[in-house]
Amino acid sequence: MSPRDYEIDELISAKRIAARIEGLSREICDTFAGTDQLVVVGLLRGSFVFIADLVRELDLPVEVDFLEASSYGDAMESRREVRILKDLSGEIGGRDVLVVEDIVDTGFTLHHVLGLLRSRGPARLETIALLDKPSRREVDIKATWTGFEIPDEFVVGYGIDYAQRDRNLPYIGTVRFT
Ligand code: IMP
Repeated sequence: MSPRDYEIDELISAKRIAARIEGLSREICDTFAGTDQLVVVGLLRGSFVFIADLVRELDLPVEVDFLEASSYGDAMESRREVRILKDLSGEIGGRDVLVVEDIVDTGFTLHHVLGLLRSRGPARLETIALLDKPSRREVDIKATWTGFEIPDEFVVGYGIDYAQRDRNLPYIGTVRFT
């Protein structure tokens, strides 16, 4: 693989992420207290690290499922057309569902995914996004819980990639081309 032609500046440390997840988990547990089993749906691929840390903080019976929607590809501009590349493995009709997203950017992905999941009749459908870039929004949508609001910068790490690289960084960093 060719060397990076960009630098990464740390934006949110692993420690801050962990502390925020702990706080958000408490709110999620209060909201879903008494649930039979919460279906936690991770949007692939960017949420895989976040969902792993999040579910381990949830003191609730949970089932984990994944859904993959097309988004950036290798480019840095969002596509408006959202396609489902991998659907859920289980049923969500009549069940409590929490959708876990890495970043809400234009909002097209979350809007499309929530429309699809709502059509399946969940008892309750809430969302959590680790990051939110409100200044980029083109669809009026907001996650129930947000980890951090960030400026309009391209970020990597903690599961989030640039052209499939840097998902394994333990922190969130901004990309700066050199
Ligand atoms: P939206 O449909 O424009 O809200 O795009 C959401 C998806 O775009 C996220 O789930 C990410 O996969 C991707 N994305 C948005 N911003 C970034 C970024 O800064 N770095 C990497 N991926 C991003």
